[in-house]
Amino acid sequence: MATWEPTELANVKLGKAVAKSATAVGVPVFSDHLEEAATVEGVTVAALQRDGFKGAKNTKFVLAGGDATRILIGMGPAAKTTADDFRKGAAMFIRSVAGHEKIAFALDDALTIIESLEDSSVDPAAVLSALSEGLLLGSYRFGVYKKLPEGHAPKRGVTVAVGERARVLAPAMTRARAVSEAVAFARDVVNEPGGTLTPTVFAQRSAERARAAGLKAEIMDEKAIAKARLGGLLAVNQGSVEPPRLLKLTYEPAKASSGEKVALVGKGITFDSGGLSLKPAESMIGMKNDMAGAAAVIATMCALPALGVTTKVVSFTPMTDNMTGGAAQRPGDIYTARNGKTVEVLNTDAEGRLVLGEALVLASEQKPTAIIDLATLTGACVVALGEKIAGLMSNDDELVTRIEDAAKGAGERVWHLPLPEDYRSGLDSKIADLKNIAGRYGGTLTAGLFLREFVGEGIDWAHIDIAGPAFTSDSDGENGVGATGFGVRTLLRLLQDWR
Ligand code: BES
Ligand code: MN
Ligand code: ZN
Repeated sequence: MATWEPTELANVKLGKAVAKSATAVGVPVFSDHLEEAATVEGVTVAALQRDGFKGAKNTKFVLAGGDATRILIGMGPAAKTTADDFRKGAAMFIRSVAGHEKIAFALDDALTIIESLEDSSVDPAAVLSALSEGLLLGSYRFGVYKKLPEGHAPKRGVTVAVGERARVLAPAMTRARAVSEAVAFARDVVNEPGGTLTPTVFAQRSAERARAAGLKAEIMDEKAIAKARLGGLLAVNQGSVEPPRLLKLTYEPAKASSGEKVALVGKGITFDSGGLSLKPAESMIGMKNDMAGAAAVIATMCALPALGVTTKVVSFTPMTDNMTGGAAQRPGDIYTARNGKTVEVLNTDAEGRLVLGEALVLASEQKPTAIIDLATLTGACVVALGEKIAGLMSNDDELVTRIEDAAKGAGERVWHLPLPEDYRSGLDSKIADLKNIAGRYGGTLTAGLFLREFVGEGIDWAHIDIAGPAFTSDSDGENGVGATGFGVRTLLRLLQDWR
């Protein structure tokens, strides 16, 4: 039987120097400082280059034979290196030392080089945070249903050697740990199959974590949802034997820095079969991930106290699966949303917007300064931007910039897409206020325009379509195969810097 224990991450600590007992040591090497690296390692530059190692990004060089295996990690030219390069390099390193339990990362010299650069824009704390995230997240493995190899985290201890900087950098390490644990929680619940992570279980498990973190957690059950007239959530849930849930989390900082409040909304479809507009078998694989938006939002909320965020934040995550039971909604059915709008459902597979619409109405009623929603909403977004980049749509350009900046700092990729006014008519229905699908093309944008119908007047709102990056089929940087926890890092950075 499955355990709901969170995946424990490696034990990453700060230290002054690389311990003698370490059996594997990572050494970042800048391409324009090969000489120094070679000297330290007791080899010649020619020997490194003979094997094709020039310190370029995404390359490594293994020096075996000594007391410890030393792995040189290419970082590219020092002046061009970003914190994210350290995140990626560290993840590559930790993956290449499977089986080792006493691991060290020699960051000292690299920091000295970075600090000596005249116009370096990367600060050591940002480097340390990113690097630690790489070590922690790069070693994440979902081990509930498969025995993990010997010597895997959490048994592993990793010391990051930073010389005399250990004390000043301690907060950056603490932050990285909190952020990574949040990402790991999101990954854990996204990786959990739809058959075990039912809406009831998802809400319960999330509420427990939220309360343990010091948040207020309220679960709306099917009765409360009906009473609140969340028509879109009820419509999607009609075909399921599992009751729906809607989880509301509230974070009130002890000392709020302003009167502002941010609302987060996340799509929590625990499995998307498509409903009666059934998906083909191939497309249905992976649809346990259709709650990744809700997972990212909940994980973010739970980390706010530890990060000492000073803005009020509230979240709404609607949860149901999208099934084909006898009572399932039929194409052509019409429901009434909480804001009074009627919606003709012409494709039951465009279900995310139905449940999100209701959550956006609830969020709007809180009169927040801004609402941000995350959702694995459209396959069209994956077609447009590929599997690594999220689509970002908004009614406010300043909010776009803030999210873009936060994503950049967090090492997650988003791309601003438009909400074209003239595409809105594609959602006009002859017999209702709206229909839930528009024409064949631009499906990501019309989905965004549909959501906008449920955002209250005058509220800044952004929608992030994470259908691509929520999940990865190849191991890439800090993301191993499976759920990525995409969005958590961006949201945490955004909220930390809010005001
Ligand atoms: N959950 C899917 C979107 C999705 C597709 C996420 C692929 C991740 C990978 C969503 O509910 C959906 O089915 N969208 C439809 C919308 C269409 C019917 C207008 C789609 O993208 O095909
Ligand atoms: Mn769908
Ligand atoms: Zn879906």
